[in-house]
Amino acid sequence: MIRMINDLLSLSRLDSGTSKIDLEYLNLNEFFNYILDRFDMMLKTDNEHTGEASSANQSEKRKQYTIKREITRRDLWVEVDPDKFMQVIDNILNNAIKYSPDGGVITARLLETHNHVILSISDQGLGIPRKDLNKIFDRFYRVDKARSRKQGGTGLGLAISKEVVEALNGRIWVDSQEGRGSTFYISLPYDPLDDGGEWDEA
Ligand SMILES: Nc1ncnc2c1ncn2[C@@H]1O[C@H](COP(=O)(O)OP(=O)(O)OP(=O)(O)O)[C@@H](O)[C@H]1O
Ligand SMILES: [Mg+2]
Repeated sequence: MIRMINDLLSLSRLDSGTSKIDLEYLNLNEFFNYILDRFDMMLKTDNEHTGEASSANQSEKRKQYTIKREITRRDLWVEVDPDKFMQVIDNILNNAIKYSPDGGVITARLLETHNHVILSISDQGLGIPRKDLNKIFDRFYRVDKARSRKQGGTGLGLAISKEVVEALNGRIWVDSQEGRGSTFYISLPYDPLDDGGEWDEA
């Protein structure tokens, strides 16, 4: 409930323009790897606590997954709002885990084109029926009401993600086949000559 209220607050702030976007130059390469490290770490700490009280609280053991990284080695300096952008990637990764069977492989990719960076996250999960593809970014939209009630969440994650990515002048979209998996893409404007290093001149 608290999460839903926070999500609704973020959306209404984004709507009304009262949510300030705090832009910073980030090396997206490092930033993405850092988030993925955190997801890898969650698996480890989970496994270490198996059988202890902490995991006994959860009705079942947390789902297992493997993250494969196909990430450029180049530094990619991009202007984003770090907190908000992290929330976007967190949601997409959590969705990939939530809507996949136990032990699924998630592939995280990052590459650059001549004026964009493209970040993508693929899973081998349930996939999304064709008729729902352009609705999943709508507020409160969830593909299978019965199935997703059990999964928790409110259907606001992707709506927030879209607002944030668009506020960064980027695009977010999905490619999916029901029963085979989904890939979420985010592209952001990128200027290869702009390393955010205006400080270096001095
Ligand atoms: N990787 C995925 N595979 C299959 N279905 C997905 C995937 N990601 C999202 N969906 C579908 O899109 C819906 C909307 O996703 P969204 O992240 O907005 O909401 P949620 O995950 O249900 O809840 P919340 O993010 O608010 O906790 C989901 O309920 C699910 O039906
Ligand atoms: Mg979600």
